[in-house]
Amino acid sequence: MFSEIALRYDLLNRLLSAGVDRSWRVAAVKAALEQNPRRILDLATGTGDMALLLKRLAPQAEVVGADFAPPMLELARQKAQKLGLEIPFVEADALNLPFPDRHFEAITIAFGFRNFADYTQALAELYRVMAPGGRLCILEFPPPPQGGLGALYRFYFTRVLPWVGGLVSGNPAAYRYLPASVECFPTPPTLAGMMNQAGFQTRYRLFTGGIAALHIGQKLEAP
Ligand SMILES: C[S@@+](CC[C@H](N)C(=O)[O-])C[C@H]1O[C@@H](n2cnc3c(N)ncnc32)[C@H](O)[C@@H]1O
Repeated sequence: MFSEIALRYDLLNRLLSAGVDRSWRVAAVKAALEQNPRRILDLATGTGDMALLLKRLAPQAEVVGADFAPPMLELARQKAQKLGLEIPFVEADALNLPFPDRHFEAITIAFGFRNFADYTQALAELYRVMAPGGRLCILEFPPPPQGGLGALYRFYFTRVLPWVGGLVSGNPAAYRYLPASVECFPTPPTLAGMMNQAGFQTRYRLFTGGIAALHIGQKLEAP
């Protein structure tokens, strides 16, 4: 599905979020860079926006982008080349990462975690490849809040977005999947609990009336 929508993915991101996603991404990247990590993974990197931002703000760090959809990775490589940024983009499944134990000092995942088939397995892999003291930043769409802004957002998300997304991408199913997967996603406290279970000391903050959430997990294991 992600391979099929790759070509129109960036356009639709900007269009459907009216550019608001940019400020959420910047907040996630700044949280990831707070401890000056030297090795950073952007997992489920898609067309690479988070990896590009990480490399621009931390040019001295080694930034790797990983995703399991080759057409997404190809677009990410083209964008990095255009900007003159050196970022390896590698094909990888989040449930079985091809990286050594304790390798990365920060890991970001923007709007990718929700799609993983097994959250517990993904968190175990993330914990394995994270260096002690390292930081995991997960940016996601939690289920929309009830009432008020939540009701308006739910209408937009379930009616307007699938229609526009389907029309522009030519793949209506992909943009029906988006609201359906968001409704099924764990609430912010539940996800924080799952991250704690995996070994990350976790806090979170909500953006734009609870439309997006940033979970920050710290691996506390001694070096
Ligand atoms: C909604 S896109 C987000 C892309 C990018 N992070 C962004 O912020 O625009 C979700 C991405 O997750 C990737 N993905 C989903 N499941 C994955 C898995 N098990 N392993 C690696 N990548 C995965 C998809 O291929 C897709 O590129």
